[in-house]
Amino acid sequence: MSIKNICILGGSGFVGTHLASQLCGEGKSIRVITRRRDHCNHLMVLPNIDIIEANIHDQQVLEQQFKGMDAVINLVGILNERQHNGDGFRQIHIELPRKILNACHHNKVPRVLHMGALNADANSSPSNYLRTKGEGENHIHAFAGKINVTSFRPSVIFGEDDSFVNRFAGILKMTPLMFPLACSYTRFAPVYVNDVAHQFASALEDKTSYGKRIDLCGPKEYTLKQLAEYIATNMGLKTKIIPLPDIFAQIQAHIFEWVPGKPFSLDNFQTLQVDSICQNGIRMPTTIESILPYTLGNKKQQSILDKQRQQACR
Ligand SMILES: NC(=O)c1ccc[n+]([C@@H]2O[C@H](COP(=O)([O-])OP(=O)(O)OC[C@H]3O[C@@H](n4cnc5c(N)ncnc54)[C@H](OP(=O)(O)O)[C@@H]3O)[C@@H](O)[C@H]2O)c1
Repeated sequence: MSIKNICILGGSGFVGTHLASQLCGEGKSIRVITRRRDHCNHLMVLPNIDIIEANIHDQQVLEQQFKGMDAVINLVGILNERQHNGDGFRQIHIELPRKILNACHHNKVPRVLHMGALNADANSSPSNYLRTKGEGENHIHAFAGKINVTSFRPSVIFGEDDSFVNRFAGILKMTPLMFPLACSYTRFAPVYVNDVAHQFASALEDKTSYGKRIDLCGPKEYTLKQLAEYIATNMGLKTKIIPLPDIFAQIQAHIFEWVPGKPFSLDNFQTLQVDSICQNGIRMPTTIESILPYTLGNKKQQSILDKQRQQACR
């Protein structure tokens, strides 16, 4: 069947923005449901986009908003919960997918794409983030006989507006001499956001992807230390990256867990205990070397301009 009307949950976020613009560019009609309309200001310029402010945790809202949809895409996810007991992760990664699939089933929506995470396993993953992601994915695939479902499980995703590289860039700017790095040994295969968006878009009508859980990685692997060094170098910084022994990393996580915004948590530490690299799955083509020097170069230029403005009192 031809898929025309698509509802995206989490469409205002980093991946959602790239995916919505790709799908709008292909002439699809997109509905994005958001907690706050102003989270979607940057999407308003896209053609054929309908922004709805509503509570996606309300089953009735989902039932109403999915009427007439050919596909639903779930991108909602969190890296940290406000609470400290796993309830926040369960609400977003398990309860929400269950409600989404029930609402899709009720409305006879034929196609669902879901965003999981590499290493997500309901039983054996080391963190709440990964375990709940795994359980949510299982709920999605429990509907496999009734709805055509596909889930994607990426390593870390990078792009100009990502939070991974940008968060590192922000911290490195504040610690220009040396930076003690937790879990410096963990390996990643960073995958480019436009490659991920392309994969979602092309899966919509690809019957061979029905029922599959697909791991997504970039073409190369790096340790966290190598990534931090790469980011620093491209920002023109000479920051020395010092691997933090696990015992100190855990103490750091316990403290940062209680800092507003949770810059690092015990759950993040546990997630970082497994390498985020692909054994199977799809290796997407774009390297960080072909994207980050340009985007980080802009940041370097920006900080030079900021300094000059400060000196000129402007
Ligand atoms: N970025 C990565 O490196 C990476 C790697 C692996 C997997 N993933 C997964 O990919 C998905 C998208 O990631 P992203 O980086 O694009 O995330 P993001 O930028 O943080 O966007 C997440 C979206 O989820 C919605 N959301 C967040 N908390 C919510 C809540 N409590 N209730 C309802 N909606 C909520 C937000 O929508 P509104 O604010 O509009 O309501 C937002 O648009 C997530 O499932 C994530 O776990 C990401």
